[in-house]
Amino acid sequence: MNDTFLRACRGEQVECTPVWLMRQAGRYLPQYQAVRANVDFLTLCKTPELAAEVTLQPVDILGVDAAILFSDILIPVEAMGMSLEFTEKSGPVLGEPLRNKSAVDKLIVPDTEDDMPFVIETIRILREKLTVPLIGFSGAPFTLATYMIEGGSSKNFVHTKRMMFQNSRLFQYLMEKLTLMVTSYLAAQIRAGVQAVQIFDTWAGAVTPYDYRESVLPFVKKAIAELKKEGVPVIYFANDCAGILHEVKKSGADIFGIDWKIDMGDAIKKLGKKAVVQGNLDPCALFLSKEEIEERVKDILWKGETARGHIFNLGHGILPETPVEHAVALVEAVHKYGRKG
Ligand code: CP3
Repeated sequence: MNDTFLRACRGEQVECTPVWLMRQAGRYLPQYQAVRANVDFLTLCKTPELAAEVTLQPVDILGVDAAILFSDILIPVEAMGMSLEFTEKSGPVLGEPLRNKSAVDKLIVPDTEDDMPFVIETIRILREKLTVPLIGFSGAPFTLATYMIEGGSSKNFVHTKRMMFQNSRLFQYLMEKLTLMVTSYLAAQIRAGVQAVQIFDTWAGAVTPYDYRESVLPFVKKAIAELKKEGVPVIYFANDCAGILHEVKKSGADIFGIDWKIDMGDAIKKLGKKAVVQGNLDPCALFLSKEEIEERVKDILWKGETARGHIFNLGHGILPETPVEHAVALVEAVHKYGRKG
């Protein structure tokens, strides 16, 4: 068992900086495309044998030090009672966006074992096959709320912010329900066997620092506090974190996921040297030459040395256009230059 990732999560000494990539199972891999040619995305997420197969692909092809469960942050939103579809053009579409109290009243807090048994089964299959740790994940309450209120992806989050500002009680009520869901969903993944969890807060940076502190942070902080009782490392990826890192620090996460828009050295200065960080190569840097990728990897590794622990990753999800050999070169560069001593 390669446990470098878990030891780095705990801030322990490691022989080599571990690396995995957000969205490492996906369309840039021909092997993923081959599986997807026969099934739609949601069916793939809900078929344990196939979800396990695509989870394993990047572990074999890239040689990463951790696997992440193949699923989507919106899977439990569907289990809460909203209809979900993925379209080729606009991504996820949630039926009847949440705009009033009765819509929020109708949402259930699902029981993962009963309502999403495929997630549990996928984790069981993976734990039997994997030789690297398995990461479970959930969307953060706020990021999930944006999709549910907007009905899908959004540019300006007009409906979300309008609810936040004009009907703060309803917004809070929704965020409380989502916090319960996130906590119980991740606790169930941990019971089934995941060895770390990551909370994706993709839209954390889309609100002002004031609103992040008042309306976003308290809920994710509560979920993290509950999850820490489960005894596995909790990674919090707050995207576009540069302007809110002093608040993100208060979340209580064990590991801070850093996006690519901030220099890793600056992020560590803001979080303090006792922090364990994860990140933060620009996904587009994988369009550079292999030599240039090495240089950027070295720069981030060198800065990562100033933290208590560093897990190498991209600063956001890998893009479908990425050349596979360049992703392989990235992992090799981390393993070559991330050696201690
Ligand atoms: O990291 C992994 O390899 C595990 C799988 C994973 C997926 N989505 C698979 C996926 C994870 C961890 C996610 C998280 C996710 N999903 C986030 C948070 C991370 C982030 O990127 O900020 C968000 C915001 C979503 C919602 C979502 N899912 C969108 C907006 C889209 C459409 C855009 C896109 O990238 O296609 C998806 C679809 C999706 N999720 C795909 C995959 C592999 C593509 C589906 C396909 O095969 O066509």
